[in-house]
This record gives sequence, C-alpha cells and structure tokens, in this order.
Amino acid sequence: MNSLDDDAKLKSLLARLHAQSAAQEEGIIRWARATLPRPGTVLSDAQEAEFDRFFVDKLVALEPEKATFCYALCRALQARRIVEAGTSYGVSTLYLAAAVRDNGGGTVIATEYEPEKAKKARAHFAEAGLSQFIDLREGDLRETLKTIEGPVDFLLMDIWTPMARPTLERVVPHMRKGAIVVADNVNTFRKDYEEYFDFLTDPANGFITRTLPFDGGLEMSVKIA
Ligand SMILES: C[S@@+](CC[C@H](N)C(=O)[O-])C[C@H]1O[C@@H](n2cnc3c(N)ncnc32)[C@H](O)[C@@H]1O
Repeated sequence: MNSLDDDAKLKSLLARLHAQSAAQEEGIIRWARATLPRPGTVLSDAQEAEFDRFFVDKLVALEPEKATFCYALCRALQARRIVEAGTSYGVSTLYLAAAVRDNGGGTVIATEYEPEKAKKARAHFAEAGLSQFIDLREGDLRETLKTIEGPVDFLLMDIWTPMARPTLERVVPHMRKGAIVVADNVNTFRKDYEEYFDFLTDPANGFITRTLPFDGGLEMSVKIA
C-alpha cells in the first residue's frame, strides 16, 4: 500500500491543507521582513510573544515534495516509531502516520504547544482515519518529549530553530543505529541552527550529515554509531 497514491481521502485532505498553507506564505514573508531581526539574533520576550501571536493561525506546513521524501524515507526504514518536533495543523504528521500505517503499524509522537493548532490537527487526523497512529503531545516539547519509549526510527525537525538542539538532546538517546533525522530550512536559517550542527558534527554523537538541495536546504542526518 502507498497511501500517498492510493488513499483518495488522504490525498484530497493533503491538497486542501497544502493550498491553505501556501495561501498564507506571502503574508508570512512580508511580516517577517518587516518585524524580525537579523538571522542569528535571539528574540526578546516581547518579540517572542509577538512571534507566537502572529503564527497562532499559520500552518507553515512542510512542502509536499519534502513531506513525500520523509514518507519515502520512513517506508525505506520500515519505521514503526517516529518523533515529529512541530506539528501545527498536522500536515507532515499525516504523511508520517500514513508511512507507519503502510509499514504495518506503529506510532508517530507529535508535539504542539498551541492548543488551537493541536485541536485542528486532531480533527485532521480523524478526518484522514489516522488518529490511532498518532500520539499528539500537547505542551512545550522540552517537557512532552521527556519520556520516549524507544527505539526511534525517524525524527522530523520542523520546529522554531531555538528548539532544534533541545529536541535532539531528548530524542537522540532513543534512536536506533540507522535512524534518520530530517530538518527543514537549514540554509535559510543557518546561523540559527548553529548549535544544532554543533551537536550533529560532534563525533561523540555518531551522525553523518549532509544538506540536500531542497528549497531552503533540508538536512538529512543518519545515526551510524
Ligand atoms: C513549522 S511549524 C510545523 C509544521 C508541521 N510540521 C506541518 O508540516 O504541518 C512549527 C510548529 O512548532 C510549534 N512549536 C514551536 N515551539 C514549540 C515548542 N517548544 N513545543 C511544542 N511545539 C512548538 C509551533 O507552534 C508551530 O506550530
């Protein structure tokens, strides 16, 4: 079974959500240019609050070609346990849950701290008939990912950049050899991902990592030791 091609209900839901996300993109770029400081700058508390206010109703969904790539990787890994940092309205989660279902069953541990987004995501999971494959943990991932029943086969990092390194620190100890981490927009936010790369390139952590030429740069890191 390849749900991305064979599940008509899922295909039409994904098309609708991707269109909804794409329609918000121009406004996000305009707002970011006008409001955010230079990349690599740590936001003040007030800036962070404004950031959260603006993004509360934005999907910021992973683009279809990147999400399809993650689906394919999860099928190749025969992934049964996946962690997703950053769920929003649940678009990428649907791809990951479809992969788990197509692999024969398992769980996607998903994380979202905006209650309204989590509510929307749950509705989308139900609409796709994929709820049983998703453990959506609501709250700050630094708390919600404290307990992970391993072994983890795949981690999708689609989160605000200050959370990237803390996510690795919580999830990597549960990853099996051969597991894969994918992180979005690493070229666009290279400076903000500095601590993330420090972790991945530290030989003690056992990764080989390369940036793939998807829009904005998609980092693929394999746990080899
Ligand atoms: C880029 S969006 C995720 C998009 C999603 N992967 C998709 O493809 O539909 C990032 C999400 O991470 C959430 N987030 C940011 N910081 C978080 C944290 N510390 N804990 C949990 N969720 C967080 C944001 O609210 C936002 O919805």
